[in-house]
Amino acid sequence: MPALADDATVVGRLLDHIDRKTTDLAEASWREPVANYLSAERFAAECALLRRTPAAFCPSAALPAPGSYVARAAAGTPVLAVRGGDGVVRAFRNACRHRGTELASGAGCAKAFSCRYHGWTYGLDGTLRHVPDEHGFPGLDKGARGLVPLEAVETQGIVFVAQQPEANALAGLPALIPPGLRLVRATEGEVPANWKILVEGFLEGYHIRWTHPQTFYPVQFDNLNVVERFGPHSRIAFPYQAIHRLRALPPAERKADGKLTYVYHLFPNAMVATFPHFVFMLVLEPLALDRTRSFISVLTSRPDGEPGAQRGADLIAAGGAEDNEVACAIQRSLASGANDVFEFGRFEGALAHFHRTLDAALGS
Ligand code: FES
Ligand SMILES: [Fe+2]
Repeated sequence: MPALADDATVVGRLLDHIDRKTTDLAEASWREPVANYLSAERFAAECALLRRTPAAFCPSAALPAPGSYVARAAAGTPVLAVRGGDGVVRAFRNACRHRGTELASGAGCAKAFSCRYHGWTYGLDGTLRHVPDEHGFPGLDKGARGLVPLEAVETQGIVFVAQQPEANALAGLPALIPPGLRLVRATEGEVPANWKILVEGFLEGYHIRWTHPQTFYPVQFDNLNVVERFGPHSRIAFPYQAIHRLRALPPAERKADGKLTYVYHLFPNAMVATFPHFVFMLVLEPLALDRTRSFISVLTSRPDGEPGAQRGADLIAAGGAEDNEVACAIQRSLASGANDVFEFGRFEGALAHFHRTLDAALGS
């Protein structure tokens, strides 16, 4: 996986773009068939891809201690991720091995998982520990009735889960969420739009002025980005006006913190975004062709109640609501017949990379 540029290099490229009124350009534009957002077959293939890809599941900080767990559906499969007594994160299909009841929901901390239906109880490592009135199950092989494991990999501050693991796709990931951050908020919501439209909203800065006139545009730049690829993933740098202050520093001392947002797109359906007080992680779970559940984790290393933190959080929430409104407005037009293809221009190269990678992964 190619390495990402360091902060000093990215800042240098952004300042150059500001001086020249330019931005990073892709080689060419890309035409994405609108049918790819409307096809039930394509959607099923995308969900199957999600199940065989190591997909970002939650930040490590959501599982801070032994027994911490997060349970939610991932690509239609109920998944339970839990940190064991040995500190290792494991993931399981979230289904009791008696008659299939989901064992946990949401997030919390447990010593063991007891099924609410008849009380079969599993350890944090998934082993079946206890069956009430076990004499009623002659010949039950408890050793073979542990929770069904999935592949969980914890790296760069993120827990990835692969339901049908392929070759290790996580080698060489860059630093994403630094150690020591704590989870300050975890929210989820449903958006009536296709998951790919929601992903696309994060991958370009061409819409800043028009979509975010009162939120991001006053503090950022319109259509001014550095776009990098690493494997199937991308990183897009969005500078703030405050980046001008870095001109006074020697290049080696130019740090991104507080001067730009990095959006990391973790193919296929997750985003990590850096902000002055926070790191955001967002997972977009496709529920249906036209419905997506978003899981947002907000992490910080700063003390509670830091001045400016609430203002920053409000700004990000308002900008995010604007992106969701646009995504829904696209969704409503998809079937209108107005467009056979969507044309992603040379400013929208990370969208082309996303769709090119998706096409290749789906063999289409
Ligand atoms: S379904 Fe879980 S104990 Fe019966
Ligand atoms: Fe946006």
